[in-house]
Amino acid sequence: MTNKQTLVELNHISVTAGSHLIVDNVSLKIKEKSVTSLVGPSGAGKSTLLRVINRLTDREDGLRVEGQACYREKCIYTCCQVEDLRQYVGMVFQKPCVFPGSIERNLLFGVRHHKKMNASEIPFFLEKILKQVHLWTEVKDRLKKSASILSMGQKQRLCFARVLAVNPEVMLLDEPTASLDPHSTHEIESLIHELKQEKAIVLVTHDLVQVRRVSDELIFLSAVNGTGRVVESGTPERIFNRPEQEETRHYLSRHRIEEVKL
Ligand SMILES: Nc1ncnc2c1ncn2[C@@H]1O[C@H](COP(=O)(O)OP(=O)(O)OP(=O)(O)O)[C@@H](O)[C@H]1O
Ligand SMILES: [Mg+2]
Repeated sequence: MTNKQTLVELNHISVTAGSHLIVDNVSLKIKEKSVTSLVGPSGAGKSTLLRVINRLTDREDGLRVEGQACYREKCIYTCCQVEDLRQYVGMVFQKPCVFPGSIERNLLFGVRHHKKMNASEIPFFLEKILKQVHLWTEVKDRLKKSASILSMGQKQRLCFARVLAVNPEVMLLDEPTASLDPHSTHEIESLIHELKQEKAIVLVTHDLVQVRRVSDELIFLSAVNGTGRVVESGTPERIFNRPEQEETRHYLSRHRIEEVKL
């Protein structure tokens, strides 16, 4: 882990909405070719931190972000346009969010901003991306059909494909399996495992068994009086077996810790 390069670094990030301090003084590093999980109670600011990293917070009136957020040592907020950032940092949400229109249109949605492609290249491109998310055989005969007819698990793989089509280096996954059945969850976890061979993945999940299955690094956040803070970080193995902080111990004791101990 130590010799891997840091792609994203948050330094002393605080986010406030009016008088509500949502996250306080959070510093963390996201390394290449690894899965970093953000874990903690509801309201700890996990999703907010993901939104800081890809600047979705820009769109939210009344949110103030202080501190420094860097991608490859450049400030995310001052050194690039949001559209450029989207090329490097992609996001998948809890609920598969497909756009109206065909499967093909969904896949090409972000690509037009970032890639120049001839019409003749498109079929090969679509096949490559859909194979990457193991969706090709299921949809190859209906690329022009509406994406809304897909199952929940297929929709979520389409969302991964839409992000992968832009080939970002960092993928932010906000509870990507929360609305999926166990089989689709397994497929997404396998995909995460494959993707981390070349990408940095930040995973928010409440599923500690999933954390154990897929993560290299775990960052545990608390939510005290509505404010999220980093409590401790380390390998899942270390945190599940030898948590250093009382808040972590307490959180783990409320989950079935025996299932997650390694
Ligand atoms: N734009 C906003 N304006 C005001 N409050 C906000 C805004 N975005 C988030 N919050 C508040 O910040 C807190 C943290 O929200 P966030 O969604 O980041 O938590 P979370 O850790 O992802 O929780 P969960 O596990 O339930 O998804 C919540 O109290 C939420 O209501
Ligand atoms: Mg959340």
